[in-house]
Amino acid sequence: MSTVAVILAAGLGTRMKSRLPKVLHPILGDPSLLWVLRTLPPALGGAVVVIHHGKELVLEALDAWRAAGLLHCPVTAVDQGEPLGTGHALQVCIPELDRLGARKVAILCGDVPLTSAATVRHLCSAEALLLAMDLPAPGSYGRVIQQADGRLSGIVEAKDATPAQLAVQRVNGGAYALPWPALKKALQGLTNQNAQKEYYLTDAVAAVARDLAVAVEVCDPEELAGMNSRQDQAALQAAAQRRIQRYWMAEGVTFLHPDSTLVGPRVALSRDVLLEPGVRLEGAVRIGEGCRIGQGTVITDAVLGEGVEVRPYCVIEQAVVGAGAKVGPFARLREGTDLAEGVHIGNFVETKKAKLHRGAKANHLAYLGDAEIGEGTNIGAGVITCNYDGVNKHRTVIGDRVFVGSDTQLVAPVTIGDGALIGAGSTITRDVPADALALSRAAQTEKEGGASRLRNRQKKQTRLS
Ligand code: UD1
Ligand code: CA
Repeated sequence: MSTVAVILAAGLGTRMKSRLPKVLHPILGDPSLLWVLRTLPPALGGAVVVIHHGKELVLEALDAWRAAGLLHCPVTAVDQGEPLGTGHALQVCIPELDRLGARKVAILCGDVPLTSAATVRHLCSAEALLLAMDLPAPGSYGRVIQQADGRLSGIVEAKDATPAQLAVQRVNGGAYALPWPALKKALQGLTNQNAQKEYYLTDAVAAVARDLAVAVEVCDPEELAGMNSRQDQAALQAAAQRRIQRYWMAEGVTFLHPDSTLVGPRVALSRDVLLEPGVRLEGAVRIGEGCRIGQGTVITDAVLGEGVEVRPYCVIEQAVVGAGAKVGPFARLREGTDLAEGVHIGNFVETKKAKLHRGAKANHLAYLGDAEIGEGTNIGAGVITCNYDGVNKHRTVIGDRVFVGSDTQLVAPVTIGDGALIGAGSTITRDVPADALALSRAAQTEKEGGASRLRNRQKKQTRLS
């Protein structure tokens, strides 16, 4: 009793001139195939992806998306073997569609990323429907031939069309909903007697249309545009960018320079977020109310609380940033960074698997890796957690209200107690108790007049040489 989606993704994509299968090329950070899979209604009986070229990479991607919870219905894959046409792609799905108990199939292309979820929902709820578009220059698309009452009569591929058929501007968008028993029967009767010696799905659709009414609906061409070349990819990305920015602007987000700002489809922004020029937000990103994201900043898979200020040129990846924190300019927050409210991370500071509690500060030139840093603690300029001994990683734990002087190396594993004070330039290799003053550096000496004596010696040496 269920509707099953079939997503065609076996093609090589010759015109992309790439090692990567076409359906894995990204639009705003997400591969084309993921855009398609994310539009599928959760109520579907499943989705079958037809793969062949680059199938290992596609299978790997499907596993990763499933693990990340990005697939809302069960998705399986079928290897088409040598692709012999879109009809052949469906023929190889017959056992899988029967296994899934399909009553109806909704067919989409993995290289058509911008079909909206609303359109896909509509397609999946239709009995027998083809999505078309009206193009002034219909090029190589299949031409849609309709009966007087509008229902589908046939689809003629451009390479097989007569001049009169070529003049038709209504073209096949490659998205269909059809009853499975009727389509299955038509697929079993397909031949490849055509200009391309391919098994055409369009011939099977026309055969179904001879027995029952297949409706034709015309969509916005942007929704059915395919990605066949790098130029298509750029055009689709620009269209997606406009669509996403229009949405967020209506929700109260300012884009200082929309053309240079890229916001992916899985990014959630809030009111009064301000994005400066050249910002790129990709993957699963959430940004709280009133955040300002500085010029040239790249944020991937991260959550920012309210009122965070990210100054220009930061890279933030797999990190959590608490409300009111200040980051950058030129900071790098790597995987597992967790900044509490009001933390300050300044220029040229790198953090990785580092938890900084409320109000902690590391304002200049530091590396904090595998570390926990307590409330109100101040990390001086040039402080480094030496977390790696060449074989294993070790943790540094620093308590609350600690002062770590500039240019200190903390050789992990090491623990610094609350309120401790570490003198500048120390190399700390042992735990420091709470409230202790720790210093580890050679004692300083002064020689009176020593500077002049040294300079004179240096001058003499220069004359001799
Ligand atoms: C097909 C339609 C055409 C329509 C156009 C637009 C047929 C015969 N023609 O054109 O009417 O206007 O799409 O979408 O269907 N694929 C496979 N296995 C194959 C062949 C293709 O999985 O053996 C996949 C491709 O990877 C792609 C999709 O099917 O995702 C469409 O294939 P493509 O070659 O781009 O379309 P055409 O056959 O030229
Ligand atoms: Ca083709």
